[in-house]
Amino acid sequence: MRAYSLWSVPAIAWLGAIPTASRLIGVPTVPFQAAGEAHLALSSLKSIIVDTQFADVCDEKGETLIPPTLHDFSETFAKDLKDALGLELEVSDASEAGQVTIFLTLGNSSDYLDAAGAPTSEGYTLSVSADGVTVRGASPLGVWWGTRTVLQQAILNEGSLPHGEAHDAPGWATRGMMLDAGRHYYPPEFITEMCAYMSFFKQNTLHLHLSDNFNVIGQYSRAFSLQLFARFRLWSDLEALAGLDKYKNESYTREQFEQIQSACAARGVTVLPEIEAPGHTLAIVQWKPQLGLANDLSLLNISHPETIPTMKTIWAEFLPWFHSKTVHIGADEYTAGAAEYNRFVNEMSVFIATESGKAMRIWGTFPPKPEYGDGNVHENVSIQHWAFFEDNPLYDYLLQNYSVLNSDDSYYVVSKWSGSYPQAVDIRRTFRGDPATAGLWYPHIFDQRNATNNPSSTNSRVLGSVAPLWNDYGQNASVVSEAYYAWREGIPALGDKQWGGDLSESEFTSVLDALHPKIPGQNLERSIPSESSKIVEYNFSSAFSRRTAASQTQLEDSSGNGYHASTDCPFSTDGGAGLAISSNCTVTTPLSSKGRNYTLSLELKIDELADPTNATLLSGGDSVLMLTPSITLFASGTYYRLNSTIPLGSWVNLSIVGKGSQMFASVKALGEPRGGADLRLRDDGVKEEFLAILGVLTQFHVWAPVAIEAPLAQIGGKNSGWTGQLRSMSLTSEAL
Ligand SMILES: *[C@@H]1O[C@H](CO)[C@@H](O)[C@H](O)[C@H]1NC(C)=O
Ligand SMILES: *[C@@H]1O[C@H](CO)[C@@H](O)[C@H](O)[C@H]1NC(C)=O
Ligand SMILES: *[C@@H]1O[C@H](CO)[C@@H](O)[C@H](O)[C@H]1NC(C)=O
Ligand SMILES: *[C@@H]1O[C@H](CO)[C@@H](O)[C@H](O)[C@H]1NC(C)=O
Ligand SMILES: *[C@@H]1O[C@H](CO)[C@@H](O)[C@H](O)[C@H]1NC(C)=O
Ligand SMILES: *[C@@H]1O[C@H](CO)[C@@H](O)[C@H](O)[C@H]1NC(C)=O
Ligand SMILES: *[C@@H]1O[C@H](CO)[C@@H](O)[C@H](O)[C@H]1NC(C)=O
Ligand SMILES: *[C@@H]1O[C@H](CO)[C@@H](O)[C@H](O)[C@H]1NC(C)=O
Ligand SMILES: *[C@@H]1O[C@H](CO)[C@@H](O)[C@H](O)[C@H]1NC(C)=O
Ligand SMILES: *[C@@H]1O[C@H](CO)[C@@H](O)[C@H](O)[C@H]1NC(C)=O
Ligand SMILES: *[C@@H]1O[C@H](CO)[C@@H](O)[C@H](O)[C@H]1NC(C)=O
Ligand SMILES: *[C@@H]1O[C@H](CO)[C@@H](O)[C@H](O)[C@H]1NC(C)=O
Repeated sequence: MRAYSLWSVPAIAWLGAIPTASRLIGVPTVPFQAAGEAHLALSSLKSIIVDTQFADVCDEKGETLIPPTLHDFSETFAKDLKDALGLELEVSDASEAGQVTIFLTLGNSSDYLDAAGAPTSEGYTLSVSADGVTVRGASPLGVWWGTRTVLQQAILNEGSLPHGEAHDAPGWATRGMMLDAGRHYYPPEFITEMCAYMSFFKQNTLHLHLSDNFNVIGQYSRAFSLQLFARFRLWSDLEALAGLDKYKNESYTREQFEQIQSACAARGVTVLPEIEAPGHTLAIVQWKPQLGLANDLSLLNISHPETIPTMKTIWAEFLPWFHSKTVHIGADEYTAGAAEYNRFVNEMSVFIATESGKAMRIWGTFPPKPEYGDGNVHENVSIQHWAFFEDNPLYDYLLQNYSVLNSDDSYYVVSKWSGSYPQAVDIRRTFRGDPATAGLWYPHIFDQRNATNNPSSTNSRVLGSVAPLWNDYGQNASVVSEAYYAWREGIPALGDKQWGGDLSESEFTSVLDALHPKIPGQNLERSIPSESSKIVEYNFSSAFSRRTAASQTQLEDSSGNGYHASTDCPFSTDGGAGLAISSNCTVTTPLSSKGRNYTLSLELKIDELADPTNATLLSGGDSVLMLTPSITLFASGTYYRLNSTIPLGSWVNLSIVGKGSQMFASVKALGEPRGGADLRLRDDGVKEEFLAILGVLTQFHVWAPVAIEAPLAQIGGKNSGWTGQLRSMSLTSEAL
């Protein structure tokens, strides 16, 4: 057997030696030996065959404790082929490939080596010929990554794969992102869709930061700190934890956390949970104020006799929830003394190992020093480096035999404003590393300015890379999907280099645009299939309707897409030629939500508001269009309000425009123009922008754009709170 490895030669030789013909352009790139010019059309394939002898095998070497079997992965792959390429192939188990099938099997796991030359279970061999396709993995996880190559190449090559052979393996075992779900709540569905997005680019780790708070600063009083924003996102009914989490609707129950973890694992992504202590722990101190340090209540007083027992109670409850081999206790930015800090970390590491056998990770904070003697953090605690002012990952940790994950803040994102960090991943950095790697960035490059600070690419203690997104300014700074948009390009750009790919900037741009519309398992952009830029168009006059049942009428979509709506609302009788809307009836569309870009237009007349501060015009899966009485979009728990409202009793055209990261509304009078009053009555067609208002350290505000999905599902109904008439509704995919 031959050892296939990209990394068995020094990185510089390998990268420099790769001629373009011997790689497939994808995200990441794939080393490939073509066999002639021929291609295999996937439409000629008869079925997917899973090698019977391995169908029930799971990868034991990856980070997840709930790995899917080879057969499970194959079923997901079959669904993906249908979603991405419209190809319907049955999955069956057999001992060998059939004529022109996709055969999924396992090979010798020592054939695939990572950057350090160690075997990895994530490698695979892809062979394509006129006889069919074989994906042979080091493990089922390796096969899964191989199927990502099949999908990507078929999308990029009009449904076919070039004849030849790929031998591919990731350079690093930990490749992914970190989401601050402590200071912003993300629904489970969003997290599983993010996992699907990451997985397509062969990332395998989603680190979830599950507790945090607004920064506590010196001049805050004790009382003020005790009511400052702080969240703990895991909901347990355990009596001993009653009061730790006060926000059940913004927390994950055990069942939800199971679903998140298994849905992510089904696509090869391990959820790595973090419960932060002894810093950033205001949520715990608000629950047990005696545990906080007097001068900064966001830090635990480790010497208080209840502190470590409390953290053990928390971990004892949640460890059984977690299905990763490693868990994260935070241990970030603690400023009250290294000795106590080290004692805390070590005691937790022994506790977690004893309780669960799991390994433990912390953020680099107090590097080991000779003067701490035996008190240094145990070598088996892995370190997540984030800033050079905290540690030098090479000298402080790697050379002292600690393993280090690269989360250098050169890839930090802070939503939606920051004094120092960008609001989307700075992908240009992935294309300029140091000269030793042909100018590309890789996970072993901690310092992009000073190569002396970087270990060799073959250093086995470099675990990989995880890039964080922080929500320093809490829930109302952004809506859920804005975390995705902050990462939209970052995930594939990092994914390529975290694996060991070598895409250039121009290749990256062209490939991503082509792949993007087909990424299976998610619809984060809430795109809606459409024949043209006009997605839906309803004229609510009776001429475009059809009675379908005693009280139901079908309302025709004239866009050509067939998105007919239905209603039990009557047509108006006062000559307005539209539907009479009230809380007694509803208009229901088959659509839910549309992401950027869009123009949503409504022609309507509002006659009366039951409660002027709380009327729902249109609701959808991600947002609600309201009058409060100003024109308002409600999303992710926040009301984003304009200054103006709609005049009552007159016909207007209300347009909501989603344009890139911004969002606008305009109201245009269809009859006599009106105006005046305290709250501006808007009917002049002028566009007003919706803005997020961030509270920064309770010291000042920052206004920032916000981009919310268009609500599309329902008008009227018992909670709508208005009566009036509706003449038309339309949606386009352009920002008009
Ligand atoms: C796998 O490959 C290694 C190294 O090439 C070899 O020593 C070993 O015998 C092989 N195992 C099997 C089951 O073929
Ligand atoms: C920490 O707790 C100990 C033990 O209860 C107490 O003596 C000490 O004053 C506390 N320190 C601070 C700074 O709160
Ligand atoms: C880490 O090292 C400590 C101290 O030697 C030990 O008690 C603990 O079991 C180790 N953890 C793991 C996961 O092996
Ligand atoms: C690191 O581990 C190596 C190999 O086990 C050992 O020789 C060396 O002394 C260790 N270094 C430190 C600083 O502990
Ligand atoms: C580069 O890093 C090395 C090792 O940390 C340090 O000694 C040196 O001063 C740094 N050089 C510059 C120009 O900062
Ligand atoms: C709706 O259809 C009616 C009847 O055909 C027509 O008079 C009216 O102008 C249409 N309304 C809109 C907004 O297109
Ligand atoms: C809704 O229906 C109730 C009972 O049928 C009726 O009393 C009420 O006036 C209706 N409201 C509207 C706004 O049509
Ligand atoms: C959870 O409930 C609170 C209080 O009712 C509300 O303010 C918040 O917006 C809700 N959160 C979500 C995500 O719905
Ligand atoms: C609303 O009015 C305030 C005060 O005049 C102004 O600062 C703000 O920019 C306005 N907001 C919008 C969305 O126009
Ligand atoms: C949305 O509009 C913005 C601004 O015009 C443009 O830069 C962007 O490419 C558009 N996005 C899509 C998905 O069409
Ligand atoms: C968002 O929350 C901050 C507190 O963090 C508050 O100051 C600000 O007014 C809120 N913005 C909106 C639009 O409610
Ligand atoms: C607005 O009305 C709805 C439906 O009646 C109700 O559920 C919601 O709590 C109200 N919101 C506010 C802020 O009053």
